[in-house]
Amino acid sequence: MSNTTQETFQLSAEMAEAYEAQFVPAFFSQWAPHLLDATGVSAGQRVLDVATGTGIVARSAADRVGPTGSVVGLDLNNAMLAVARRIQPEIEWRQGDAAALPFGDAEFDIVLSQMALMFFPDPIEALREMRRVLRPAGTVGVLIPSGLAWNPPYQSFVDIVSRHAGPDARNLVTTYFSLGDLDRLVGLFNEAALRVTATSCPTGESRYGSIDEAVNVEIDSTPLGDRLDQGARERILADCRAAIAPYATASGVVFPFECHLIVATPA
Ligand SMILES: C[S@@+](CC[C@H](N)C(=O)[O-])C[C@H]1O[C@@H](n2cnc3c(N)ncnc32)[C@H](O)[C@@H]1O
Repeated sequence: MSNTTQETFQLSAEMAEAYEAQFVPAFFSQWAPHLLDATGVSAGQRVLDVATGTGIVARSAADRVGPTGSVVGLDLNNAMLAVARRIQPEIEWRQGDAAALPFGDAEFDIVLSQMALMFFPDPIEALREMRRVLRPAGTVGVLIPSGLAWNPPYQSFVDIVSRHAGPDARNLVTTYFSLGDLDRLVGLFNEAALRVTATSCPTGESRYGSIDEAVNVEIDSTPLGDRLDQGARERILADCRAAIAPYATASGVVFPFECHLIVATPA
C-alpha cells in the first residue's frame, strides 16, 4: 500500500509510475468493482471519480458506462494525472481540489472516491462538494480503510513504530486508518447533507514481497521515511519480523485488509 499525505501528495513522475505499476495491481485495483457494484454504475451515466490517482476507478467506471456515458477523473496531483492520461487518453482528466470541485451543480449521476477521504484536510467540505455536483437522485460512493482494530497486521506495525520512534511517528503512519470509525464516518456524511443508504465492509488483501518490504514501503511512503534513523528502522524491522510472521506465505506476505464502503444520496 502506498501512502499519500498532505505533506507528500505532490509526487514525482517516477513515484506516480511506480504507484501504477506496483501498488495498483497489488492493492488498489481490487476495490473498484465493490465501489461500482454498490453504487450501480451502468450504461449511459455521467460519473466523477474524486482523487482518482492514476485512474483505476475511473477506467473501471468507463468500461461500465460505455460509449453513451462519460467519466471524469479528478486529482490534486499532476504526476498521477499524467499517468492516468497516458493509459487512457479518452477519459477526461482534471486537476483540482476535492474541497473546491471545478464543476457546476448537479452535473453527475454518480460521484465516487476510493482510498482518499482520509487525506483531505476537510472531509466534510469534500463531501459537501460531492453532493453539490450530484444530480438530486444521484449516488455517492466512498471507500476507505476501516480502523486499525479491524486491520490487525497494521495495528501491530503501528504499535511497533510507536514503541521505537515515538507518538509523532505513530501519527504519520496511521493516516490511512484515521476515518475508520463507522459511526464517525456516517456522521461526516450527515453533516454534508448526504443520507447514507448502505454501508458494507469489503475485505481484500494487501500483498508485499516480504515483511521487510512491507515495513519499508509503509515507512517510506510517509514523511517518516526521511526522519527515521537507521537504528530505529532496524529495531522496527526486527520486531515486525516476529509480530507479522503469521502473515508470511511461500510467495511473500499477505495481509487481510478491511474497508468501509458508504453509499449515500442527497438528503
Ligand atoms: C492513495 S491515492 C488513491 C488514488 C485512487 N483513488 C486509487 O484508488 O488508486 C490518494 C489520492 O488522493 C489524492 N488527493 C489527496 N488530497 C486531495 C485533494 N484535496 N483533492 C484531490 N485529490 C487529492 C492524491 O493526489 C492521490 O492521488
